[in-house]
Amino acid sequence: MNSNIPEILKQDSFDKNDIVSLLSASTPCEIEIIRKRANEILVRECGPDVYCRGLVEFSNQCINDCFYCGIRKSNSAIQRYFLNKKEIVEAAKFCADAGYGSIVLQSGERRDDHFIDFVEDAVKTIKKETTNKDLPHGLGITLCVGEQKDDVYERFFEAGAHRYLLRIETTSPDLFARIHPARQTLDSRLKCVAALKRIGYQTGTGVMIGLPGQSMADLADDVLFFRDNDIDMIGMGPYIVHHQTPMARYELEIKNRKSDIFNSALKMIAVVRIVCHDVNIASTTALQAMEPLGREQGLEFGANVIMPQVTPTDVRKNYMLYEGKPCLDENASLCRSCIEQRIKSIGRNIGSNKWGDSRHFKKKHADFCT
Ligand code: 5AD
Repeated sequence: MNSNIPEILKQDSFDKNDIVSLLSASTPCEIEIIRKRANEILVRECGPDVYCRGLVEFSNQCINDCFYCGIRKSNSAIQRYFLNKKEIVEAAKFCADAGYGSIVLQSGERRDDHFIDFVEDAVKTIKKETTNKDLPHGLGITLCVGEQKDDVYERFFEAGAHRYLLRIETTSPDLFARIHPARQTLDSRLKCVAALKRIGYQTGTGVMIGLPGQSMADLADDVLFFRDNDIDMIGMGPYIVHHQTPMARYELEIKNRKSDIFNSALKMIAVVRIVCHDVNIASTTALQAMEPLGREQGLEFGANVIMPQVTPTDVRKNYMLYEGKPCLDENASLCRSCIEQRIKSIGRNIGSNKWGDSRHFKKKHADFCT
């Protein structure tokens, strides 16, 4: 065993070499030491509760062509959909009744006026329709609708969305360029993340883990990026092949590295918890796509947010960013009881009817959060 790991964990701050050593932990014993430390920090900094954000994937129409993503513009094999406002508001009411406290509105990327007006109106309506005695400020709303102009981010914020997720996918400019067409740039993503923070959103970002050519040093840079850019929420997951994408050519390589990729994803959760302390970290669905108990494991490695599916069942199959996505057939009620049972099975509680804001953000803006 690398006896450095207990020594490294005694430190208050970590440099890139420390993070690479933690991410390189390979024996069950080393990994368990890291997991336990992440849990101690989670309980001390955030408490043990798990917060739910009902996930509505409201459209798979997309102007982007990311080489890894199943809903990329060039994939003509899928049926495109766009839920109407009534369907979205119904899903939101389900979340409010289920005690989820928050909702995530996610879609493929569009920047046209019709799309922007629609999202703004949906946010306002959800706020209005879900304000009640249990939720005096309505559901907490997170948007995940990609790169937009600053004034659009401002409009969405004014409408009532107070969190925004925009993954940077990787901090390595070379790797970013290899997995996206030339017109999609890391620089533009980074500018958007900065704008979201400036406007006042609780800002979430994240990366994929296990991308072909990605090194431990790249992942360590990602962790340092989260810390040094004062990110409030992190969503990370393993890269999973989708056959109708250009990156399907890596299928065999990814298959051979499957258990390493899954373990790296868990270690990334733990290391982000250890380095960034009080941020919210999601245990993402991609973990469960790889391993049936992947999301529970994510929670046990330091995550404190989970995103139960509330997308209407009939369109879920058309929102396949990667293959093996779980929960395609269950309805939202089944997903709710399944999630409750999964959280209880690991001895944790759901923070019902709470927004479950990032403590990291709360410390900076005490007047702003519930
Ligand atoms: N495997 C894993 N994650 C993926 N995403 C998109 N495609 C894949 C894939 N094939 C992630 C990206 C994106 C988020 C919405 O889903 O990180 O930002």
